[in-house]
This record gives sequence, C-alpha cells and structure tokens, in this order.
Amino acid sequence: MAEQADHADRADRAGHADRAGHADHPAYPVGLRLHGRRVVVVGGGQVAQRRLPQLIATGAVITLISPSATPSVEAMADAGEIRWEHRRYQDGDLADTWYALIASSDTTANDAASAEAERTRTWCVRADDAEAATAWTPATGRSENVTVAVLTTTSQGRDPRHSAAIRDAIVEGLRDGTLAAPHHRTRAPGVALVGGGPGDPDLITVRGRRLLAEADVVIADRLGPRDLLDELPPHVEVIDAAKIPYGRFMAQEAINQALIEHAKAGKSVVRLKGGDPFVFGRGMEEAQALAAEGIPCTVVPGISSTISVPGAAGIPVTHRGVAHEFTVVSGHVAPEDPRSLVDWEAVARMRGTLVLLMAVDKIGAIAAALIAHGKDPATPVALVQEGTTAAQRRVDATLADVGERAVAEDVRPPAVIVIGDVVAVGPHSAPTTGQDRPGDQQ
Ligand SMILES: C[S@@+](CC[C@H](N)C(=O)[O-])C[C@H]1O[C@@H](n2cnc3c(N)ncnc32)[C@H](O)[C@@H]1O
Repeated sequence: MAEQADHADRADRAGHADRAGHADHPAYPVGLRLHGRRVVVVGGGQVAQRRLPQLIATGAVITLISPSATPSVEAMADAGEIRWEHRRYQDGDLADTWYALIASSDTTANDAASAEAERTRTWCVRADDAEAATAWTPATGRSENVTVAVLTTTSQGRDPRHSAAIRDAIVEGLRDGTLAAPHHRTRAPGVALVGGGPGDPDLITVRGRRLLAEADVVIADRLGPRDLLDELPPHVEVIDAAKIPYGRFMAQEAINQALIEHAKAGKSVVRLKGGDPFVFGRGMEEAQALAAEGIPCTVVPGISSTISVPGAAGIPVTHRGVAHEFTVVSGHVAPEDPRSLVDWEAVARMRGTLVLLMAVDKIGAIAAALIAHGKDPATPVALVQEGTTAAQRRVDATLADVGERAVAEDVRPPAVIVIGDVVAVGPHSAPTTGQDRPGDQQ
C-alpha cells in the first residue's frame, strides 16, 4: 500500500515536473491533415461552436459528445456535418481518435477525457486548461490559399489575444496588399473585372483589394474608389479609362482593346469599375471581348451604389410594412425616347421603391411620366449625390417638384434617386405597424 502511494506520489511529482518542463519548451507547429480521420469533440458549447467549422472544413469524421449543444452546433449535426451523441463523456470515447477537442463545462469529465487522451496518445486540446493539453490551437486566418497560424512560443506568458492580434495584422496586410508577399509561382496573366464599390475606399471587397495590390496594370473608371489608386506601388501602370484614345473605335471598344493588349503582353490587369461590374457597368461586354480572345477573366462583385448610396444617406430600400420590392431603373434616356427599354407605365404602377441611376438630367421628365401614369405626386423623393464619399449630400423633394429641386439645388451626377415611402423612413421615424403578419421577415 505504502509502495503504491509512493509510486503515485512520484508519478504525480513527475507529472508536475513534466508540466513545469513543458513551460520552458516551445510547442511544435504542425498542420494536421484530418480528412477521413476520427476527431472527438467533448462539449457542445461556445468553444465547439467556434472551432467546429474549421474542423469540418478539414474533412475529419467528427463525433460530438455532449448532453446539450448551442443551436448553431445543433444545426451542424442536423446538416450531417458532425455526429452528435447526446450524452456525457465516458471512458473509451477516444478509441481510434486522432485528435480531441475537450471543451465541456464539466471539469471532471474534461480531466477524465484528457487523461484518456494522454493514455491513448491522442493529441488533445483543452479549452479550460491549456497546461493540461498536449496541443494548442493557434489563432488562424486565411488569405488566398495561405493559412496563417500564430502560436505563443511557450506556455509562460501565453496570451491568446496577442496571438489573435498578430494574426489579424498579418491577414489584413496580406489581403489589402500592405504586407508585401511576392508570389514566386508565376502569376497567370489575365484580367480581373473588379467591382470597386460606390466610392469609399473601405467599401471594396477584400478580394478586389488584394487583386488591385497584385496588378501590373489598372484601368480605372471615374466612379469607384479612386483613392486606392494612390496607394499602388510606382511600377503599377494606372490608366484612366476615360482618357483612352479611341480614334475610330467607340470608347468601350477602345477599353476592351486596351484590356486585351495588356493581358496579351503577359500583364496582370485589373479593370476597376464603380459599384458592381454587372449593374449598368458594361462588365459583361468586357468579359465577352476577353473570352473572344481566349484571355482568362475573373469577375469580382462589388457593392452597388443602388443599395449602398441610399443606405449611406439613411434610406433603406426596403422596410417592413412599407416596401416589399425595389426596382432599379436606368434614367439615362428620357421616357419618351424611342431607345428607352423601360415600361414606365408598369413602373408607375409598382408600389415599392424605385431607385434611379444616371437620371439627374432626365428626372423632371421621368417624374412627369410617373405622375402621368398614376403615381402620387406627393410621393417622397431623395437625391443622393456622391454617396459614401466626403462630398456626399442629400436633397429631399416630392415627385411633383423633384425636377425643379434638382435644378435649384444644383444636383449633379453621380447621384442615386430614390422614389417611394422608404425615403421618409429613418432611425427616428415611428416604427411601422405595417400590413405584415407577425413573424414576417424581409
Ligand atoms: C454607369 S452607372 C454604374 C453603376 C455601378 N456599376 C454600380 O453598381 O453602382 C453610374 C451611376 O451610378 C450611380 N452612382 C455610382 N456611384 C455613385 C455614388 N457614389 N453616389 C451616387 N451615385 C452613384 C449614379 O447614378 C451614376 O450615374
């Protein structure tokens, strides 16, 4: 008995010595390839909810052991992404397991599970006791096809928030191109049609910004985040699309030709467009011209001014109980113009929100046509000029007087014009009781 106790005591001291020793030695970073391999997660709370998506992405065969789970974790089980055993941990659960995540709120169960992991040589992360774990989860992030993983070197001074902050700095730098990381594989030449958003440089997508940072040539429109062009390295050739000489070509054909020439010269070309490339952006014409020449083309969607500019001016394009639809119409030709493809009579009959682009010059004629087709002259209208930029301004009117107000207030393009009751909805307007049934979502 005394011998047994002595043995246990030595083992216990050895355990502590091991723990103390661990503290001095750095963890060994490694990427586990878990596809098709058994992984056990003990506990279905917030930690599991945060970690499971990445584990699922590895293709691991995941079993969750937990009497309860958060609704998100439950949804993963319902979707068949993990197998959920609705019970507490019991000895033997880690049989044939390659990796275990122990994250229950029951410390006794956690201790027992990590003891089994130690016995069965299963790498194990413990959410409640990093010291008792045989593995740590690094702070991870992704940029393109690189995973950035940041791990504190030793358990002494472990500071997961610091690791997360370093991870964020690296990932953000890679994404926006401020952290230079040249590709050593040759980049495929080709063209990226990038939607730059409505103008605020923060409103381009992460992918768009990265492609911009990697470009050799950028062909940019007048609209869009022009401030970003100043940040490009000096070797990048920036071409103003409006200034491409087009001689016997139409302007669009000259732009297509410029894209083709630079891509054929082996350059990585970004065609930076305002808003989204496919919303009155002629993006598909450019994609077709490139396809005809066999040039690879990537399309990166952008935040369109149709929604973002009203939003930036405090106007929701839909609102429960007010508008169940919004319609986006180009106003670049007047309603009576034979080139117009718009059925203004049908547009006037719609009860929802009408969003007009390229309509500043023709707004008087458009308003008159809408009223002539039965739209209420008192319908509220807002004109939002240079939305999301420092020069943004909003002019309010009604359908009856919008033509005069636009002239009197000297509203100039680019502007988005919003027509409909949503114009009167704002953070301080009375909540709508609406005609919707309870629980209706829009
Ligand atoms: C040729 S269309 C391009 C639309 C763009 N592809 C998009 O998705 O936003 C140009 C029109 O978009 C609207 N527009 C674009 N950016 C704007 C901004 N920052 N403020 C107001 N209107 C804008 C104006 O109606 C402008 O005349």
